[in-house]
Amino acid sequence: MAAQTIESVLHEQRLFQPAAAFVEHARIKKHELETFQQQAVQDHEKFWAGLAREQISWHKPFTQILDSRRAPHFRWFGDGLLNVSYNCLDRNLKDKAGKTAIIFEGEQGDVRRVTYAELHRDVCRFANALKAKGIKKGDRVVIYMPMAPEVVVAMQACARIGAIHSVVFGGFSAQSLKDRIEDAGAKMLITADGGTRGGKVIELKLAADQALAKGCSTIESVIVLKRSGQTIPMQSGRDVWWHDAVKNVSDQCEPVWVESEHPLFLLYTSGSTGKPKGIQHSSAGYLLGAIVTMQWVFDIHDDDIFWCTADVGWVTGHSYVAYGPLATGATMVMYEGAPTIPDGGRFWDICQRHGVTIFYTAPTAIRGLMKLGDDLPAKYDLSKLRLLGTVGEPINPEAWMWYHKHIGRERCPITDTWWQTETGAHLIAPIPGAVATKPGSCTLPLPGIAADVVDEEGNSITQPNQGGYLVIRKPWPFMLRGIWGDEQRYIDTYWKKFNNKYYVAGDTAHKDEDGYFWIMGRADDVLKVSGHRLGTMEIESALVAHPRVAEAAVVGKPDEIKGEAVFAYVVLKGARPTGGVDEALTKELRAWVTEQIGPIARPDDIRYADNLPKTRSGKIMRRLLRSIAAGEAITQDTSTLENEAILLQLQGKA
Ligand code: WTA
Repeated sequence: MAAQTIESVLHEQRLFQPAAAFVEHARIKKHELETFQQQAVQDHEKFWAGLAREQISWHKPFTQILDSRRAPHFRWFGDGLLNVSYNCLDRNLKDKAGKTAIIFEGEQGDVRRVTYAELHRDVCRFANALKAKGIKKGDRVVIYMPMAPEVVVAMQACARIGAIHSVVFGGFSAQSLKDRIEDAGAKMLITADGGTRGGKVIELKLAADQALAKGCSTIESVIVLKRSGQTIPMQSGRDVWWHDAVKNVSDQCEPVWVESEHPLFLLYTSGSTGKPKGIQHSSAGYLLGAIVTMQWVFDIHDDDIFWCTADVGWVTGHSYVAYGPLATGATMVMYEGAPTIPDGGRFWDICQRHGVTIFYTAPTAIRGLMKLGDDLPAKYDLSKLRLLGTVGEPINPEAWMWYHKHIGRERCPITDTWWQTETGAHLIAPIPGAVATKPGSCTLPLPGIAADVVDEEGNSITQPNQGGYLVIRKPWPFMLRGIWGDEQRYIDTYWKKFNNKYYVAGDTAHKDEDGYFWIMGRADDVLKVSGHRLGTMEIESALVAHPRVAEAAVVGKPDEIKGEAVFAYVVLKGARPTGGVDEALTKELRAWVTEQIGPIARPDDIRYADNLPKTRSGKIMRRLLRSIAAGEAITQDTSTLENEAILLQLQGKA
């Protein structure tokens, strides 16, 4: 997309200063933030090294800070040794052994509390179970589980012995699971009989069995958590129940000390090609990001009850469920199910009953709950809440104001956090006691984060409100370390556009007169459907894999609640259905995509055409397709179309 075509349409003038009552107890006040910013600008490496020394418990302290010799492959704190699980659990045992680490609530209403001492014991046991199954440092373990304390146990246990976990969201299909297991070359799969969401059982073990039946030859064993209680087949020699695996093992497990750069996890995410990429994160740098953002952005205090609603299948659930809250000794809420069970008041009910003080969710959830009316939240006592957050996609000012008024009761600051799977933790977000907020803006970069907006040539855009590419000019400790098994793709995706000079986020943005960042959307073919990241190419390849589909193009269509909806244009092998309507086939294709990727990728609309619109050089005219999906008037040049009649077909008018 050319920079001059990136136009910003938002002009939001409202400014919300942090309330005095909040500022009084805030960890970081305005002058402290200014000092931090100055230190970071003066000496970027020293700034991060200081924090790393202060915030991480090292087994062996580091002496090297940033190693850029193989840029854009960066190493941070290279000669240090640590263990992430030690930092999340053991170091809290002295003062916080009896403190609740996790308040878990199942969709059915069952509540379980786990203290730091108990979590430490469970993690040690499970780590020993992993060892007994032959899992060693560097082995990959895929986790395909429902939201339950055990998923955190599994992740922490991997970290404890230096195994690299890769969590696959429970909503992904058997096929997606298989692709990820194979790409990671995983030795073990950890799953559950089933999960519950929206009152329905999610057949995790069934999908796992299907995935393994199709390939996954590296998998040696499967550990299965009993959660839903349904009957499932267990393959002898391969499958073992979680409760059996931890039966005769010690509850002590010495952590394996790993180098700072040892991969903590892989997390697959969508990009602009068909194949999801395994984003690789480090141990020390990643941990540091999770800790400092818990402190700066979430202002975490010892008596807070922190709740991030994200599933651990996404990066938000890694940094702000599995690692950040524990590494800062916090108490967190973890909820298994959907926000609308038994009704749309469930989130507010949980906030009230557990006394949640910090609540972090996605704009899509806010919009969905906003639609249900103001009466629902009004029924609940939300007076304990002191800070709200959002993540995953731009939040529209209307939803921001509703969140501010009806949930925050005009008292709680809202921190709109911009970040990505690749960035490891928040990069641009208001530090709530120090930065005034504007509805729809993620405000200013955190200290030590050199974010900027540049034009097509890579020059910094100095004129306010002029759109361009969002880039990060300097490496930061919690940045991704690569794409698993695909070094070239790492460079091509994130660095090549501006000659390896800076990290290219793939988003477009602009800065306003105050230097505030406004994220405008993706510059590539990535969709954000209900905050979930999906590649259009990924959905296209799934469609084309269907025997009747010759060609497919997928674009996002603006959606009031989901942000974007999946809109597919399909060219069939053989004749187009009469009038472009074939309900049976449409149903079949939607089910097909669900099977190939998962329900989140299922197209909302499918239109059939004789051809797809292409430029002279044969590129699909995606902008045109996006305008059509949005129901906008066509302003693009369509003279290259061989057959103008297909325009009517694409529009659903013929
Ligand atoms: C988008 C989620 C606007 C953005 C943590 C980014 C946002 C992508 C925001 C990463 C925000 C995330 N405002 N857009 N506060 N947060 N995004 O990897 O397009 O699932 O590139 O990570 O989400 O999505 P991912």
